[in-house]
Amino acid sequence: MTTITEIAPDTFRINTFISEANLGFSQFLIRDEEPLLFHTGMRALFPAVREAVAKLIDPATLRWAAFSHFEADECGSLNEWQGIAPQAAAVCSMVAKMVSVDDFASKNPAKGMVDGEEFSTGNHTFRFLATPHVPHNWEAGLLFDTTTGVLFSSDILHQNGDVAAITSESVTDRVRQSMLEMQASPLADYLPYTPKTDATLKRVAALKPSTVASMHGSIYTGDGEKAILEYADVLREVFGGNG
Ligand SMILES: [Fe+2]
Ligand SMILES: [Fe+2]
Repeated sequence: MTTITEIAPDTFRINTFISEANLGFSQFLIRDEEPLLFHTGMRALFPAVREAVAKLIDPATLRWAAFSHFEADECGSLNEWQGIAPQAAAVCSMVAKMVSVDDFASKNPAKGMVDGEEFSTGNHTFRFLATPHVPHNWEAGLLFDTTTGVLFSSDILHQNGDVAAITSESVTDRVRQSMLEMQASPLADYLPYTPKTDATLKRVAALKPSTVASMHGSIYTGDGEKAILEYADVLREVFGGNG
Protein backbone atom coordinates (compact mmCIF):
# COMPACT_ATOMS: atom_id res chain seq x y z
CA MET A 1 0.00 0.00 0.00
CA THR A 2 1.20 3.48 -0.82
CA THR A 3 0.59 6.22 1.73
CA ILE A 4 0.89 10.01 1.60
CA THR A 5 1.93 12.12 4.61
CA GLU A 6 2.51 15.88 4.66
CA ILE A 7 5.80 16.28 6.55
CA ALA A 8 6.21 20.05 6.11
CA PRO A 9 4.18 22.73 4.30
CA ASP A 10 3.50 21.47 0.77
CA THR A 11 6.06 18.72 1.28
CA PHE A 12 4.63 15.22 0.99
CA ARG A 13 6.12 11.81 1.75
CA ILE A 14 4.87 9.09 -0.58
CA ASN A 15 5.79 5.71 0.88
CA THR A 16 5.44 2.11 -0.20
CA PHE A 17 6.45 -0.66 2.18
CA ILE A 18 7.79 -3.76 0.44
CA SER A 19 7.41 -6.60 2.89
CA GLU A 20 9.75 -9.03 1.06
CA ALA A 21 12.55 -6.53 1.65
CA ASN A 22 11.26 -5.41 5.08
CA LEU A 23 11.89 -1.93 3.73
CA GLY A 24 9.90 1.17 2.88
CA PHE A 25 10.72 3.40 -0.07
CA SER A 26 9.80 7.08 0.06
CA GLN A 27 9.52 9.73 -2.59
CA PHE A 28 8.94 13.36 -1.67
CA LEU A 29 6.78 15.76 -3.62
CA ILE A 30 7.20 19.50 -3.12
CA ARG A 31 4.07 21.16 -4.40
CA ASP A 32 5.17 24.50 -5.81
CA GLU A 33 5.03 26.59 -9.00
CA GLU A 34 7.59 24.16 -10.42
CA PRO A 35 6.72 20.86 -8.71
CA LEU A 36 9.71 18.80 -7.59
CA LEU A 37 9.83 15.08 -6.81
CA PHE A 38 12.81 13.91 -4.75
CA HIS A 39 13.40 10.25 -5.68
CA THR A 40 11.31 8.79 -8.47
CA GLY A 41 11.39 5.29 -6.99
CA MET A 42 12.10 2.18 -9.02
CA ARG A 43 10.38 1.54 -12.36
CA ALA A 44 8.22 -1.12 -10.70
CA LEU A 45 6.85 1.53 -8.33
CA PHE A 46 6.05 4.04 -11.07
CA PRO A 47 2.28 3.31 -11.31
CA ALA A 48 1.87 3.65 -7.53
CA VAL A 49 3.99 6.81 -7.31
CA ARG A 50 2.24 8.42 -10.27
CA GLU A 51 -1.16 7.68 -8.70
CA ALA A 52 -0.07 9.22 -5.40
CA VAL A 53 1.40 12.29 -7.13
CA ALA A 54 -1.88 12.66 -9.03
CA LYS A 55 -3.69 13.20 -5.71
CA LEU A 56 -1.46 16.25 -5.10
CA ILE A 57 -0.73 17.78 -8.51
CA ASP A 58 -1.35 17.10 -12.18
CA PRO A 59 1.53 14.65 -12.87
CA ALA A 60 2.02 16.16 -16.34
CA THR A 61 3.19 19.38 -14.65
CA LEU A 62 6.12 17.79 -12.81
CA ARG A 63 9.13 20.02 -13.53
CA TRP A 64 11.97 18.52 -11.50
CA ALA A 65 12.95 14.96 -10.62
CA ALA A 66 15.71 15.35 -8.06
CA PHE A 67 17.75 12.61 -6.42
CA SER A 68 20.99 11.86 -4.62
CA HIS A 69 22.72 9.22 -6.70
CA PHE A 70 22.27 6.97 -9.70
CA GLU A 71 20.43 3.90 -8.39
CA ALA A 72 17.03 2.39 -9.21
CA ASP A 73 15.28 3.52 -6.03
CA GLU A 74 16.61 7.07 -6.56
CA CYS A 75 15.87 7.65 -10.24
CA GLY A 76 14.79 4.37 -11.88
CA SER A 77 11.59 5.78 -13.37
CA LEU A 78 13.09 9.03 -14.67
CA ASN A 79 12.28 8.04 -18.26
CA GLU A 80 8.72 7.13 -17.32
CA TRP A 81 8.30 10.58 -15.74
CA GLN A 82 9.74 12.26 -18.82
CA GLY A 83 7.21 10.26 -20.84
CA ILE A 84 4.20 11.76 -19.04
CA ALA A 85 5.59 15.16 -17.95
CA PRO A 86 7.03 16.99 -20.97
CA GLN A 87 9.08 19.47 -18.89
CA ALA A 88 10.44 16.98 -16.34
CA ALA A 89 14.20 17.23 -15.95
CA ALA A 90 16.53 15.65 -13.44
CA VAL A 91 18.22 17.66 -10.70
CA CYS A 92 21.38 15.92 -9.60
CA SER A 93 25.09 16.49 -9.15
CA MET A 94 27.14 17.64 -12.12
CA VAL A 95 28.99 14.32 -11.85
CA ALA A 96 25.73 12.34 -12.09
CA LYS A 97 24.66 14.40 -15.10
CA MET A 98 27.96 13.97 -16.92
CA VAL A 99 28.59 10.32 -16.07
CA SER A 100 25.15 8.67 -16.21
CA VAL A 101 21.98 10.70 -16.20
CA ASP A 102 22.07 12.50 -19.56
CA ASP A 103 22.82 9.16 -21.22
CA PHE A 104 20.18 7.24 -19.27
CA ALA A 105 17.39 9.83 -19.69
CA SER A 106 18.25 11.81 -22.79
CA LYS A 107 14.90 13.49 -23.50
CA ASN A 108 15.49 16.48 -21.22
CA PRO A 109 19.02 17.32 -20.06
CA ALA A 110 19.58 17.21 -16.32
CA LYS A 111 20.21 20.28 -14.20
CA GLY A 112 23.73 19.45 -13.01
CA MET A 113 24.38 21.04 -9.63
CA VAL A 114 27.66 22.02 -8.01
CA ASP A 115 28.33 22.19 -4.30
CA GLY A 116 26.45 25.05 -2.59
CA GLU A 117 24.39 25.95 -5.64
CA GLU A 118 20.82 27.12 -4.97
CA PHE A 119 17.71 27.22 -7.09
CA SER A 120 14.07 28.09 -6.55
CA THR A 121 10.89 26.29 -7.53
CA GLY A 122 8.70 29.30 -6.64
CA ASN A 123 8.12 29.45 -2.90
CA HIS A 124 10.88 26.99 -2.00
CA THR A 125 14.62 27.57 -2.32
CA PHE A 126 16.85 24.51 -2.42
CA ARG A 127 20.56 24.23 -1.70
CA PHE A 128 22.54 21.38 -3.19
CA LEU A 129 25.39 19.75 -1.29
CA ALA A 130 27.86 17.60 -3.21
CA THR A 131 28.62 14.64 -0.92
CA PRO A 132 30.75 12.17 -2.92
CA HIS A 133 30.45 8.63 -1.48
CA VAL A 134 27.97 9.80 1.21
CA PRO A 135 25.67 7.97 1.63
CA HIS A 136 27.25 6.08 -1.27
CA ASN A 137 28.37 6.48 -4.89
CA TRP A 138 30.75 8.99 -6.46
CA GLU A 139 27.98 11.22 -7.81
CA ALA A 140 26.07 11.50 -4.52
CA GLY A 141 24.55 14.77 -3.35
CA LEU A 142 21.79 15.98 -1.06
CA LEU A 143 19.14 18.66 -1.34
CA PHE A 144 18.21 20.99 1.51
CA ASP A 145 15.02 23.02 1.43
CA THR A 146 16.14 26.30 3.00
CA THR A 147 12.50 27.42 3.16
CA THR A 148 11.19 24.60 5.36
CA GLY A 149 14.41 23.23 6.89
CA VAL A 150 13.81 19.79 5.38
CA LEU A 151 16.92 17.87 4.38
CA PHE A 152 16.26 15.24 1.72
CA SER A 153 18.82 12.81 3.02
CA SER A 154 18.51 9.82 0.67
CA ASP A 155 19.90 6.75 2.47
CA ILE A 156 21.10 8.75 5.50
CA LEU A 157 19.09 7.58 8.57
CA HIS A 158 18.00 4.43 6.72
CA GLN A 159 15.76 2.30 8.95
CA ASN A 160 14.39 -1.11 8.06
CA GLY A 161 10.86 -2.18 8.92
CA ASP A 162 7.30 -0.95 8.64
CA VAL A 163 7.71 2.11 10.85
CA ALA A 164 5.78 5.33 11.48
CA ALA A 165 5.81 7.96 8.76
CA ILE A 166 7.23 10.59 11.06
CA THR A 167 8.73 10.67 14.54
CA SER A 168 10.36 13.08 16.95
CA GLU A 169 12.00 10.22 18.90
CA SER A 170 15.64 9.44 18.18
CA VAL A 171 16.03 6.92 15.37
CA THR A 172 19.73 6.27 16.05
CA ASP A 173 19.27 2.85 17.68
CA ARG A 174 17.01 1.73 14.87
CA VAL A 175 19.50 2.97 12.25
CA ARG A 176 22.33 1.05 13.96
CA GLN A 177 20.23 -2.13 14.10
CA SER A 178 19.30 -1.73 10.42
CA MET A 179 22.92 -1.30 9.34
CA LEU A 180 23.91 -4.39 11.36
CA GLU A 181 21.12 -6.33 9.62
CA MET A 182 22.44 -5.15 6.26
CA GLN A 183 25.95 -6.27 7.21
CA ALA A 184 24.63 -9.75 7.99
CA SER A 185 22.83 -10.01 4.63
CA PRO A 186 23.79 -10.34 0.94
CA LEU A 187 23.69 -6.51 0.93
CA ALA A 188 26.73 -6.21 3.22
CA ASP A 189 29.04 -3.22 2.74
CA TYR A 190 26.10 -1.10 1.67
CA LEU A 191 27.91 2.13 2.59
CA PRO A 192 31.60 2.99 2.27
CA TYR A 193 33.56 4.46 5.14
CA THR A 194 36.37 6.62 3.80
CA PRO A 195 38.80 9.18 5.30
CA LYS A 196 36.33 11.85 4.15
CA THR A 197 33.08 10.33 5.46
CA ASP A 198 33.10 12.02 8.86
CA ALA A 199 33.96 15.47 7.49
CA THR A 200 31.26 15.19 4.84
CA LEU A 201 28.64 14.24 7.42
CA LYS A 202 29.74 17.16 9.62
CA ARG A 203 29.07 19.50 6.68
CA VAL A 204 25.62 17.95 6.30
CA ALA A 205 24.91 18.27 10.03
CA ALA A 206 25.92 21.93 9.92
CA LEU A 207 22.82 22.64 7.84
CA LYS A 208 20.93 22.12 11.13
CA PRO A 209 17.87 20.62 9.45
CA SER A 210 14.64 20.60 11.45
CA THR A 211 13.48 17.55 9.50
CA VAL A 212 15.58 14.75 8.05
CA ALA A 213 13.65 13.03 5.27
CA SER A 214 15.22 9.65 4.64
CA MET A 215 14.21 7.42 1.75
CA HIS A 216 13.92 4.43 4.08
CA GLY A 217 12.11 4.57 7.42
CA SER A 218 10.57 7.29 9.55
CA ILE A 219 11.08 10.97 8.86
CA TYR A 220 12.85 12.48 11.85
CA THR A 221 11.80 15.89 13.13
CA GLY A 222 13.81 17.65 15.83
CA ASP A 223 17.51 18.27 16.24
CA GLY A 224 18.69 17.19 12.80
CA GLU A 225 22.26 18.24 13.50
CA LYS A 226 22.46 15.84 16.46
CA ALA A 227 20.77 13.05 14.50
CA ILE A 228 23.32 13.29 11.70
CA LEU A 229 26.31 13.48 14.05
CA GLU A 230 25.00 10.34 15.79
CA TYR A 231 24.59 8.75 12.37
CA ALA A 232 28.26 9.49 11.67
CA ASP A 233 29.12 7.60 14.86
CA VAL A 234 27.01 4.63 13.75
CA LEU A 235 28.76 4.51 10.38
CA ARG A 236 32.17 4.54 12.07
CA GLU A 237 31.08 1.71 14.38
CA VAL A 238 29.50 -0.47 11.71
CA PHE A 239 31.49 0.25 8.56
CA GLY A 240 34.68 1.88 9.80
CA GLY A 241 36.33 -1.14 11.39
CA ASN A 242 39.27 -3.05 10.06
CA GLY A 243 37.33 -6.30 9.63
FE1 LIG B 1 21.34 4.37 -2.36
FE1 LIG C 1 17.89 4.04 -1.09
